[in-house]
Amino acid sequence: MTLLETDAPRAAIDRSLTLELVRVTERAALAAAQWRGKGDEKAADHAAVEAMRAELGRVHVSGRIVIGEGERDAAPMLYIGEEVGKGTGPEVDIAVDPLEGTTLCAKNQPDSLCVLAMAERGGLLNAPDVYMDKVAIGAGYPAGLLDIEAEPTDTIKELARLKGVPVHHITASVLDRPRHARLIDSLRGAGVAVKLISDGDIAGIIHAVNTEETGIDIYLGSGGAPEGVLAAAALRAIGGQMQARLILDTDDKRERARLMGITDPARRYGAADLASGDVLFAATGVTDGSLLSGVKYRRDSIRTHTVVMRSWSRTVRWISAEHQRG
Ligand code: FBP
Repeated sequence: MTLLETDAPRAAIDRSLTLELVRVTERAALAAAQWRGKGDEKAADHAAVEAMRAELGRVHVSGRIVIGEGERDAAPMLYIGEEVGKGTGPEVDIAVDPLEGTTLCAKNQPDSLCVLAMAERGGLLNAPDVYMDKVAIGAGYPAGLLDIEAEPTDTIKELARLKGVPVHHITASVLDRPRHARLIDSLRGAGVAVKLISDGDIAGIIHAVNTEETGIDIYLGSGGAPEGVLAAAALRAIGGQMQARLILDTDDKRERARLMGITDPARRYGAADLASGDVLFAATGVTDGSLLSGVKYRRDSIRTHTVVMRSWSRTVRWISAEHQRG
């Protein structure tokens, strides 16, 4: 018997579910791909939602959506609280972004993805669809380096010192938004190479922790809270550090958060606070991107590319699949 079998706590989620998740995100990507470049974000999103929900219905879990398409009255499918799955397996919480980067898909631009995370019950932060401040870096730095309240340029100076490079060798990825103008100016003022992304901060965060491959050292800025939880689920498997804080700047947002069980509106979350315990994460490319290739129509088949990860084993699998037309 190996040390792993005797000493490690048992994985809460059956590992065979990893392949089931691949089927779910693949199915959503195949549906969304038909809307690539058609300029219709809503139709693309709807196709992904419908396909993801149908495929989730075949998975042997008693699933509950905790991050989805919105609250029950705002979304007909994959709404927060919806029960999904066959209802026959383990009780799990599910976070979905059936089409991350709807605009990217509608414009056929890089990094549109279909994304899903699954955790044991209670393992995913039940977050309202508000903005979230996020900062993320790769593995190998001392724990606690990130502080969402620190001046970003101070964090970067420390990062550069620990990496042993000058600040102008640091690349920071930031969503290209007017709300980030001051952040971008201050980073450029300090000599940082800023990589602006037009959309898709789940891929943005994953890229920032894969520094060796991407050359990106840090992700900074605000984006959707649901995307923050999904990115954290991936980081639980691939490593790296993240800190995040919900932006609850109105009474209405604070009340929505309170109703979801968030009692401290100023709380700073690490990746393991956003996605805890045993977590699975899967993403399939819709459009060609730097993380995953998109859906490819071939003469006789359709090819998809998926990454699926498991926090318990920290396994990351890249799966290329051929689907028969028909
Ligand atoms: P959608 O797929 O919902 O359009 O989200 C894309 C995205 O870029 C996310 O990755 C990001 O978290 C969020 O939008 C940022 O929001 P905004 O576009 O309002 O700045």
